[in-house]
Amino acid sequence: MRFTSGPGRRPDPSASRDTYRGRAERYDLELAPFEPLRAKAIAQLAPPAGATVLDIGCGTGLSFEPLLECIGPTGRIVGVDPSPDMLARARSRIACHGWSNVAVMEATAASAHLQGHADAALFHFTHDVLRNARALDHVIAHLKPGAPVVASGLQWAPAWLLPTNAFVLGAALYSVTTLEGLDQPWTLLAERLQGFEVRSFPWVGLYIAGGHVG
Ligand SMILES: C[S@@+](CC[C@H](N)C(=O)[O-])C[C@H]1O[C@@H](n2cnc3c(N)ncnc32)[C@H](O)[C@@H]1O
Repeated sequence: MRFTSGPGRRPDPSASRDTYRGRAERYDLELAPFEPLRAKAIAQLAPPAGATVLDIGCGTGLSFEPLLECIGPTGRIVGVDPSPDMLARARSRIACHGWSNVAVMEATAASAHLQGHADAALFHFTHDVLRNARALDHVIAHLKPGAPVVASGLQWAPAWLLPTNAFVLGAALYSVTTLEGLDQPWTLLAERLQGFEVRSFPWVGLYIAGGHVG
């Protein structure tokens, strides 16, 4: 990972694009051990049949299938991601399954031309987006009142869990452009939502957090 902005600084979308250029091909395999977290996050989001869901930082589209299981053929997914390489994989997945109700946009979360108001938003392993207030404001402005929002991913474990934190550091250096906020990645989101709750899994350095739009 190219830490052009340095740990503790602002997220850097162009550095992120470089990272995922090299990683897209093996990304799905690398994420396999974390699929139970995705399942839990989507179960918490629980978008109803027919809902439109924003999958922010959708990557290769690993969340599409489990989201479609919730929203069904009348629902819609809009994936947003600035990495052409990750999106190429997402587009192949869409084509391969013939999903006509899944679309992707090549854009950062802060600049995506989102239209209308969606029913739910998922931020799965998108630390850079969660530490970008402008991105969160933009996405939340395109959600309906009451829409559920769930974020999930890496967080520092308590300091004494050294092996876990070694793993979190390695995974973060490989995936994100800022370590800022890695102790509580959800704080900017929590300021913008109601009924916010956090579930931390300290032994594995993971969390799921979420609330709903006021
Ligand atoms: C670790 S991957 C997660 C992909 C997917 N959410 C998943 O669960 O497998 C992080 C993704 O966030 C994307 N990303 C980075 N900066 C972003 C930004 N500013 N806006 C939207 N997506 C961004 C990256 O391109 C990458 O595809």
